[in-house]
Amino acid sequence: MPLLELKNLRRAFYGLEVLRGVDFSVAAGGITGLIGPNGAGKTTLFNVVSGLVPPDGGSIRFDGREIAGAAPDVVSRAGLVRTFQVARGFPKLSVFQHLMLYGRDQPGESLWQAIMGTRAARDREAALAERAWETARFLRLDALIDNPATALSGGQKKLLEIGRALMAEPRLVLLDEPTAGVDPKARRAFWDEIHAYAAQGITVLVSTHYMDEAERCHEIAYIAYGELMARGTALEIIRQSGLIAFIATGPGADRLAVKLRDAPGVTAAAAFGATLHVCGPDREALKQAIEPYGHDPTIVWQEAAPTLEDIFIHLMGTARDNAPGA
Ligand SMILES: Nc1ncnc2c1ncn2[C@@H]1O[C@H](COP(=O)(O)OP(=O)(O)OP(=O)(O)O)[C@@H](O)[C@H]1O
Ligand SMILES: [Mg+2]
Repeated sequence: MPLLELKNLRRAFYGLEVLRGVDFSVAAGGITGLIGPNGAGKTTLFNVVSGLVPPDGGSIRFDGREIAGAAPDVVSRAGLVRTFQVARGFPKLSVFQHLMLYGRDQPGESLWQAIMGTRAARDREAALAERAWETARFLRLDALIDNPATALSGGQKKLLEIGRALMAEPRLVLLDEPTAGVDPKARRAFWDEIHAYAAQGITVLVSTHYMDEAERCHEIAYIAYGELMARGTALEIIRQSGLIAFIATGPGADRLAVKLRDAPGVTAAAAFGATLHVCGPDREALKQAIEPYGHDPTIVWQEAAPTLEDIFIHLMGTARDNAPGA
């Protein structure tokens, strides 16, 4: 039985269908990456699943229980927490206070008991404080632990978002672009840690625009215009796409991108440094398109496996045909 199961999930805003009957499930364990263009409906999906926005129709089962339309605190108590694309929080609370707050099951009660000094409550607070420190250390926020949230940089606020979600010890965590604006070293550390959490049994659904991050997921789901369009491991998605790619290397190869972009049979041509990726669904058509540029002895053409980014751009092009009003 999947941990999270969405069936025919629908939501519209002002007549525009943002989720158009999404069928999607997440098995317990593992990391699923949710990718898709801006405006695809990823954040809306997270909002609906976490109870922030009610669905217009469809069902959301979490751990076998129907939670469609349930209030956010009911959903989070059931073990499903999420982070926000734009970091939220209480500006005056410190990093430590944020972490403690989200680690408590019943914020008021536990704090009250700690103040009143029952031994069990003091022990719980001490264990929680230890966990808050651990979380701050792994996010490299420990040096800032007493700073108010307003005094954090954009990337540090995102890290605090992640920390708060993890403090709740969720069974399923939805991370909405958790590493946007986070530097490469912190991004790497974050992904190492996400894998460690997954190994402990926390299920992760993470939206991202970074293809290197998508490749670090066990599975990828591609959503566009409110519909799930592809699903599988990075390798499966690359195979399913049927996309062919040619790579050109040599002086000036990158400059051919502009010439090839609109050629028949070419769905995408992009320069990566000094190399050029040219993609299309039909090998023969693609060969014809590049033929005029195949005689330059300084440029080497090679057929290669398309990258996930090639597929992503390709899918974005094909999804446009299904767009509302297209
Ligand atoms: N509260 C709202 N009121 C009206 N329209 C909304 C609302 N929330 C989202 N939308 C619309 O729903 C669509 C999907 O938005 P959503 O934020 O879910 O996209 P996304 O996939 O998260 O995009 P991004 O990658 O840019 O974060 C957009 O067209 C957006 O304008
Ligand atoms: Mg979003």
